[in-house]
Amino acid sequence: MTEIRRVLLVGFMGSGKSTVGPLLADALGWRFVDFDDAVEAREGATIPELFRTRGEAYFRDAEARVAAELLQERDVVLGSGGGWAAVPGRLESLPAGTVSVWLKVGAEEAVHRSGGQAGRRPLLEGGDPLAKARRLLADRLPAYRTAELAVDTQGRSPEDVVQEIVVLLDSHHLNTRT
Ligand code: S3P
Repeated sequence: MTEIRRVLLVGFMGSGKSTVGPLLADALGWRFVDFDDAVEAREGATIPELFRTRGEAYFRDAEARVAAELLQERDVVLGSGGGWAAVPGRLESLPAGTVSVWLKVGAEEAVHRSGGQAGRRPLLEGGDPLAKARRLLADRLPAYRTAELAVDTQGRSPEDVVQEIVVLLDSHHLNTRT
C-alpha cells in the first residue's frame, strides 16, 4: 500500500473540483482547501480583481506560491485552479504522498456549469465563452492527462463522482487511512 496524505483534484473550470472536493474530504475524514480561495485570502482580492488590477502573470505567481505551500499539508483534499495543473510537468513533480485526480468534463458542460458563476472566471469572459473554453481545454488536455487517476464527471452527480474516486483509491492500493 502507498501511503497517501493528500488528494489533488485537477481539471478544467467547471469540472466540479470545488463541489466534489468538500464531499470527498468528508468521505476521507480530511479537510478541503481550494487554491482560488487561498489565493483570494492571501491577496485580499478576488480572482477577477487580481486579473484586472495586477494581470494574469501576477495571479499565476501568487497561485504557484500558495500551491507549493498547500502541497505540504497533510490529510487534505486540494482543489487546484484550472490553469495551475495545465503547466506542463507540474503533475509529474508532486510531493510524495500526493495523488492527482483529473475530473473530466467537456467544454459545453464546463461553460454551462460556469454560467452560474459568471464573473468568477475571467478567462471565459467576453466574446464567445464556448469557443474560448474549447480552445483552452484542447491546449490543456495533454497536461491534465498526466494526472494519476481520471474520473468522468459528465452528466454525473457529485456524490457519484466521489464514490468512484474512493473506489479508485482503494483499487490502486492508495492508503488514506493511516
Ligand atoms: C482558471 C481557473 C479558475 C481560476 C482562474 C483561472 C484557469 O479556477 O483559478 O480564473 O486558468 O482555468 P477554477 O478552475 O476553480 O474555475
